[in-house]
Amino acid sequence: MSIRPVVMGTGSALPQQRVSNAQLVDRVETSDEWIRERTGIGARYIAGEGETTGSLATDAARKAIEAAGIDPAKIGLIILATATPDQTFPATATKVQAALGINDAVAFDVAAVCSGFLYALTIADSMLRTGAAEYALVIGAETFSRIVDWEDRTTCVLFGDGAGAVLLHADSDAGERGILAAKLHADGRHNELLYVDGGPSTTQTVGHVRMKGQEVFRHAVTNLASVLQEVLDIAGLDASELDWVVPHQANRRILDATARKFGLPPEKIVITVDEHANTSAASVPLAFDVAVRDGRIKRGDLVMLEAMGGGFTWGACLLRY
Ligand code: UT7
Repeated sequence: MSIRPVVMGTGSALPQQRVSNAQLVDRVETSDEWIRERTGIGARYIAGEGETTGSLATDAARKAIEAAGIDPAKIGLIILATATPDQTFPATATKVQAALGINDAVAFDVAAVCSGFLYALTIADSMLRTGAAEYALVIGAETFSRIVDWEDRTTCVLFGDGAGAVLLHADSDAGERGILAAKLHADGRHNELLYVDGGPSTTQTVGHVRMKGQEVFRHAVTNLASVLQEVLDIAGLDASELDWVVPHQANRRILDATARKFGLPPEKIVITVDEHANTSAASVPLAFDVAVRDGRIKRGDLVMLEAMGGGFTWGACLLRY
């Protein structure tokens, strides 16, 4: 019988400090009205002292393991998507591994920025299907507040910190459940539209996020619509059959445009950008966990996850929860 990875549990974590748009007005020349109108963002969480990508990832992972109700020692694969690792190396995934007391597993980070979780999930799907492990943790975790330029109002108001995780089981008797289809893309010609202006091998600094927002917006709407359709085609399904879409939370207007394009009622789109802002690789698993825990996403629901980010990278994944 063939193996299909199934989501057994989800978890998420946010820093303690919540920062509203109004609180940002003291820091940069902006307004609650501008941020809400252009992005749908009302607040974000910002990591404080002692809170790191690794600590948030560990908290999210613990909750996913608890929800799944399994012994952490059974986890043989940990993939962590992040653009803001605790250190250049070792991989933050190994720090999470150590914190969880898992002494033998495959553990590594994936760098695909905002699409990182989709990349990590798709890699885990392939590895579990080929028997690399029986249980896998897939995490998206970020502390973008540490790489935004707090003098640049065009970017600093957009991002927040957080983490989300899923615990996958390589199920040989998944029935209708599990990961049904996935598709990833990258197009390196657009590096300069969304990037960080530093790094170990170039400037020996961490650098700051730089973005040409309008151009990214245009590409995001087109690429997300096309990859969503691709994944529906692979699965042989119609958009009307989806119970939920859990999109990357960059901008409310992008989410509305995608919903309109597929004729999806807005109630089927999970939206957390108002409360979390853009948490890059963490945004999809964070939103997924929120909707699972508040009872919207139920066992058996057909869920589409999708994201697009720097690179450009983009992708989508269809699963039955
Ligand atoms: O996560 C990876 C994927 N990322 C995305 O998908 C982000 C995609 N892009 C976007 O979401 C939008 O382009 C932004 C939210 C970044 C910007 O919205 P926009 O409607 O494209 O605004 P804009 O860049 O065209 O700026 C409009 C005006 C400008 O002023 P002028 O030139 O018209 O006088 C900006 O200087 O708004 C000004 N502005 C601000 N005003 C108040 C830019 N940032 C701010 C701000 N507060 N924070």
